Amino acid sequence: MMKKKRALSGIQPSGKLHLGNLVGALSNWVGLQDIYDCFYFIADLHALTTGYAETGKLKENILDVGMDMLSAGLDPEKSTLFIQSDIPEHSELHLLFSMITPLSWLERVPTYKAQIEELKEKDLGTYGFLGYPVLQAADILIYKADVVPVGQDQLPHLELTREIARRFNYFYREVFPLPKDLLTASPVLPGLDGRKMSKSYGNTIGISDTPETVLKKINTAITDPARVKREDKGHPEVCTIFAFHKIFNNAEAKQISIDCSKAKIGCVECKKLIAKSLNEYLAPIYEKRRTLEKRKDYVREVFIEGGKKAQVMARQTLSEAKKAMGIS
Ligand code: TRP
Ligand code: SF4
Repeated sequence: MMKKKRALSGIQPSGKLHLGNLVGALSNWVGLQDIYDCFYFIADLHALTTGYAETGKLKENILDVGMDMLSAGLDPEKSTLFIQSDIPEHSELHLLFSMITPLSWLERVPTYKAQIEELKEKDLGTYGFLGYPVLQAADILIYKADVVPVGQDQLPHLELTREIARRFNYFYREVFPLPKDLLTASPVLPGLDGRKMSKSYGNTIGISDTPETVLKKINTAITDPARVKREDKGHPEVCTIFAFHKIFNNAEAKQISIDCSKAKIGCVECKKLIAKSLNEYLAPIYEKRRTLEKRKDYVREVFIEGGKKAQVMARQTLSEAKKAMGIS
């Protein structure tokens, strides 16, 4: 049998995960478990690069994300699940990479300036924030990952990862294979207000929200702004609710689109339908989550055990890197 290729990805612990995380990352990760040797981790050090000033909730957020990962179908029997900061080797490799990474490479990463603009209330003029992609490169290269499942927004980080690997291999010797991106196919999911679904916009539906909360939130979602009265014909392609139908109620989406365009269905009814589909889709995740909430020690154990497995490989690569650099 051929050895499976290694896939690796990480998610920041920004609190309970939402539908955008589910369709943009987790569902994809779950599907890769049988094809690749998967490493998935909670990127708590990355969370510090923007959240360093208030860390009081970090521990709770890590546990929440851990429970959501398991609820969504990540399986510790198949994948290595761990917490980034449990493996200090990531930090050490990050430091070594920082020696060879030109400042200009970091300053021109598009997410760098964009995030500073977007998170104006935070002081992101720090060394750590500039080095965000160097840490990400260490995460990926320390496991010699073949593929990295990510969304479009992460492609510049992956390009930089390859540049750092190339530069290291060129200065010392061939230690790091160049990882490929495995682009998540799904489109960006809109949130309740029509902007991208994101924790920082407060427009999310949580994957562990109760069915009642899901219904309530759906009822507040904006639809086609041009459709004021029930008799107005709708434009499903601009409607958040319709975007949900396409993903979570695909079988009926076509008919709904036709009916909406002819004003044969009203938004109230349309929202009822999607809330029902969504709740059916989320039911198994919700059930699992309720169970795990009573077994937090088990959840912690899963991530500790995963960390031990990951660390074996991380140590090996770090030691190779140090030898190559002449400091072992
Ligand atoms: N930067 C990624 C994000 O915000 C999270 C992340 C950290 C990551 N380290 C990684 C993703 C390594 C893939 C591989 O989504
Ligand atoms: Fe959106 Fe449905 Fe209303 Fe059409 S009927 S505008 S798809 S909520």
